[in-house]
Amino acid sequence: MNELGCYAEVVSDDEYLLAQHVGVAPDSVIYNGIAKSHDTFLKALEDGAIVNIDAGYEISWLDDYAGVPRGVGLRVNFDLESLCPGHAHGGVDGSRFGFCYENGELRRAIERVVDKGFTIDGLHLHKSSKTRLPEVYFAIAKTAVKIAREFELKLKYVDIGGGFFGGLPSKPQFPEYFEGIAAILRSEFTSDEVCLVVEPGMAVIGPPISYVTTVVDVKHGLGTDFVVTDGSRVHIDPLMTKSSYFYEHQLASGFEHGHSPRQVVTGYTCMENDRIFEIIDGDAAQPSDVITYQKVGAYTMCLSPAFIKWLPDVYVKDWAGMHQVKQRWDAEQFMNANTCGGWAR
Ligand SMILES: Cc1ncc(COP(=O)(O)O)c(C=O)c1O
Repeated sequence: MNELGCYAEVVSDDEYLLAQHVGVAPDSVIYNGIAKSHDTFLKALEDGAIVNIDAGYEISWLDDYAGVPRGVGLRVNFDLESLCPGHAHGGVDGSRFGFCYENGELRRAIERVVDKGFTIDGLHLHKSSKTRLPEVYFAIAKTAVKIAREFELKLKYVDIGGGFFGGLPSKPQFPEYFEGIAAILRSEFTSDEVCLVVEPGMAVIGPPISYVTTVVDVKHGLGTDFVVTDGSRVHIDPLMTKSSYFYEHQLASGFEHGHSPRQVVTGYTCMENDRIFEIIDGDAAQPSDVITYQKVGAYTMCLSPAFIKWLPDVYVKDWAGMHQVKQRWDAEQFMNANTCGGWAR
């Protein structure tokens, strides 16, 4: 993504340092979130990163900045639920991110930043929604316009955050989001002055990644056939919220497959809820069948535990073929990574 010209959006000191470690230019970073450290916050400011302040203590950190005061962004917390009932994650409780517009905290934050000689270059308005629908983004764009007008901000960017659908033909496509967002922003800003920043996560990393598993056993229960695989729900649904997948069931040759009214495809862990999905009225699975789950790249690998088995190998497929980019640990590597000073036998 770096080579393609994307910035690294990071939300903690650890992610900030990782981006530096893998060679992202310091001024190609967007530093968001509630887990910044004092030192990386100041370093990012010094190095020309986009820094979106999320909390009052970060405004206090501006006093420790040795350079000439510059522009920063502010994360805006606004009542999305009242604008789009039923859409906002957090519902009527609202969100813990950013400065609340409705209760005056945002006004006070703007005043504090400006009093210190810094300017407000940007507004960051990422909102997690349950629906990921374009109307959520239109409400966000309208809020950006309203706030810029009310506080007479001379913005350089509006950062509308992530949360888009991507790679799913049945769901909204990027033009549906961005044509609507752009039309709203153009009512107040010109594209020469104000840049639209987007932070798609799921939409970009979800679609290209598949998880390949093999059936190791089929057990027959009381009316249910359990298809035991060498995969696990913890790898593709670590938040335990999914019940269906895009998948391909490749039947192994050399078996009489037959038909099963109800199969529950399960994982290798010891948890009974390691049940991945159901196949109703389908080909009866047999050992050596391959079940490949598609579009499972988001909120999976980074959240998976090394529970029962090490994390799986990862391969990248490109024009030149298949390359292994991550290898399963062995016991020695696990102990080295998880004990101070490594593991001495
Ligand atoms: C600030 C911010 N930007 C971008 C994202 C990416 O969201 P998604 O993966 O839903 O696109 C998140 C996710 O929570 C976020 O908190």
